[in-house]
Order: sequence, then structure tokens, then C-alpha cells
Amino acid sequence: MDKIIIEGGRPLVGRIKISGAKNAALPLLAATLLAPGWHTLKNMPDLRDTRTMLLLLETMGVEWQKEDNGTIRVNSAKLASFEASYDLVKTMRASILVLGPLLARMGEARVSLPGGCAIGARPIDFHMQGLEKLGVDLTLANGYVHGRVKELKGGTVYFDIPSVTGTENMLMAAVLAKGTTVIKNAAREPEIGNLVDMLVNMGGCIEGRGTDKLVIQGVAELRPAEISIIPDRIETGTYLIAVGATGGEVTLTNCNPSHLPSLLEKLRIVGLEIKERETEIHVSCPAPLRSVDIKTLPFPGFPTDLQAQIMALMCFSKGLSLITETIFENRFMHVAELKRMGADIRIDGHSAIVKGVDRLYGARVMATDLRASASLIIAALAAEGTTEISRVYHLDRGYDDLVGKLSMVGAMIRREKE
Ligand code: EPZ
Repeated sequence: MDKIIIEGGRPLVGRIKISGAKNAALPLLAATLLAPGWHTLKNMPDLRDTRTMLLLLETMGVEWQKEDNGTIRVNSAKLASFEASYDLVKTMRASILVLGPLLARMGEARVSLPGGCAIGARPIDFHMQGLEKLGVDLTLANGYVHGRVKELKGGTVYFDIPSVTGTENMLMAAVLAKGTTVIKNAAREPEIGNLVDMLVNMGGCIEGRGTDKLVIQGVAELRPAEISIIPDRIETGTYLIAVGATGGEVTLTNCNPSHLPSLLEKLRIVGLEIKERETEIHVSCPAPLRSVDIKTLPFPGFPTDLQAQIMALMCFSKGLSLITETIFENRFMHVAELKRMGADIRIDGHSAIVKGVDRLYGARVMATDLRASASLIIAALAAEGTTEISRVYHLDRGYDDLVGKLSMVGAMIRREKE
């Protein structure tokens, strides 16, 4: 396992190019199962999770080619299996995204249950209830969910919670179902819009893009897509927050400010100066940081995937911040590690009260999950002294060349074998 070593206290100055979004790339890769032929996916990030998804598709008979400049071409014409095995699914729960397209393409799917992860139990009951509404016969046995359907039929499904991958699985099944499907209380994250754009490009018929009600008219067949993966809003937010912690002046390129309405609002209250252009954000932090309260919510609310990162920032602010996590039941794993660096944080149920301190101190800390790792990177960049972060394989899941990008803007950061 590798570790990352950071000498803190240096401002970030320069330009960072944002990569394609992990949480868009994964459903778009799964959607290639819906139509044989060569799909073209542009702006593909190079992440552990996207490599895992490509490997999973390959085990089913899907071919793919990596072109230069981040374009991947994928062809599921030789799809030969409807099974997603445990050894791959256990490393990436988003593998559940092959369930819907496999049922639509082959009428059968056998996917290992993803199981929980560090941040929560991560059940898939909404996925199952939704697919059953389309006529799928689903059984759970031996750690697998096994679905069979003669012919998918349109139906109406209501999500108690606007599940992101639940909405995506339903979209990918409904697009080839017979008749009309209505998804109520659908998730509205920008990654859903990217998937809708891909499915429409393939010949799908979908109304309500960007709203919480999606209406899908099933079609008989689809054609290969040509689609560009949207920029990663969570990577964008992570670097914006890092500049808040370290000071300096950075321009983020190849990003989309409209995908981060809540974060930009909060960072301006904290005192960051943020200038938005269509595909760029210019950020600096001229003043001492003010504290701010945060409550994570489905889009367009504050993203749960940026909660750990903004908590690290609030450790350096003046005053008290109340951070409430409403999406996942165990997403405060970063708190213990931040406290080892001198942070003053108290957890009370689903909330954390952060009291700003004058400084954090470098320490040996351990990454526990993807976004907690990003929080430790931010704290280390602004801390006094040297921080060693172990188990950085968590970071590799969702950040494309993080060490390279931060080095380019002046961070003293390196990666070593543990
Ligand atoms: C997606 O996970 C993202 N992953 C997560 O990003 C993100 O944190 C999450 O959405 C929320 O925005 C991908 O897109 C690959 P949900 P997902 O279904 O779809 C409960 C990261 O760091 N729920 O929207 O699994 C669930 O327990 C990852 O990039 C059920 O109860 O999240 C949670 O409390 C982490 N039953 C809430 O709904 C279900 O069937 C929202 O979960 C499904 C979900």
C-alpha cells in the first residue's frame, strides 16, 4: 500500500484541469450494455473505479479501446454473460449499475450484492422495488440478486429517497421497456442528466431531464452513443475548498460551475472570492475564514460527497460550524483523524460541531474512505509540519492524478510505497 507525504503551509497558485466525473462515467459505461456497436465516451477519467467497471464489462464479453485524449470506445456486441461476480463487485458497489441494462438487453441478470462500505449499509431495496414495477422477477440468494423478465413493461415508481444509482438503474431498464415508465422523486444530480443525454443520443425517449419526475417511452432498440462525460463536480469542489484552506489563487479549467450551486454559495459566505465562467472557476481566499453551517441534501442541496472536505476547511475558520450529514449513516470517519491533527470537533448523532482553531499540526493519519481521504489531504496542505496519509488506495478510486495536479500548483506533496 502507498502513502502520501505532505509538507503543509504552502499556498496553491496556478491552474488545475478537472477530469471527467467518476459518478457519470460509471453509469455511462454500464449503459453501453444496452446497444451493440461501438460507443464513444469522451473525457473519461483514469480512476480505479472506472478501470474496475471496464474490467467487469470485459468479463461479460464487452470489448473496449482506449484512445488518446481521454476517449474510450466500448462495444457490447459480443455480450456473453449476465453475471457480475463477487470478486469485482466487492471492490466497487457501483457495479450494481449493470443490473438494469443487463435485464433490458438479455432479460436476465445475476449481480453480487454490493454489501456495505465504510460510510453505510448502502441497501438496494429501491432498485429492486423499482425493477419489480417493470415486471422483473427478483430473488436474493447466496449473496447475489438474480433478476429475470420475459418482457419489461412500463410502470410507475416512487422513490422514498431520490436514489442516484436507483434512478440510473430504472432509466436504463425503462428505456427498452414496452410502454411508459414514470419515475417520481427521481434524483436530480447532474450525472443523471448526463445519462439521460446519452440514452437520448442512443434513440431513447425521455422527458423531464433535470427534474424529479422522469417519463420514459420505451423503444424497441437503441444504437451506439457518442457522449462527453461531464466534469467531476466533486473533484472541482475538493480543489476549491483546498484553496480556501491554504490561501493562494487557482483557476480550475474544464469544469462546470452550474453543477455546484450550494457549495459556491457556502464558500462565498466563508470568505472565498469566486469568479465563474462557463467552463472555468477562478478562486482565491484573501480574508480569514468565517464559519458556516452545512446540511447535506440531495441535489441541488449541499453534496454529501463534499461534507468531509468542507469540515476540514471549517477547522481553520473563526467560530463554530454545525455540519449535519443527512444522506449516509456513518460518514464522519474523517473526524477522528482530523482530531489527531489538532482539530476541535464534537460529534452529536448525525451532526458534528466544529470549533475553529488557529492551526492544525502534521501527523500520521489513515484514510478510511474516498472522500475522508480528500479531507485529510486538505487538512495536511494547510497544517503546520509534515503529514503522512496511509491507505491512499481509497483516493485512487475517485481522484485522477491528485498528487500531480496539486504539485503543479505548488503543494509539497509526494507518494511513496508504505
Ligand atoms: C451515489 O451513491 C454516489 N455514487 C455516491 O458517491 C453519493 O454519495 C450518493 O449517490 C449520494 O449523492 C455513485 O454515483 C456511483 P443513493 P448511491 O442511492 O446511488 C439510501 C462517492 O464518494 N438508499 O443516492 O449509492 C442510501 O442508503 C460516492 O463518489 C436506500 O435506502 O446513493 C442513502 O442513505 C459515495 N435504498 C440514500 O438512499 C436504496 O435502494 C442515498 O443513496 C438506495 C439508496
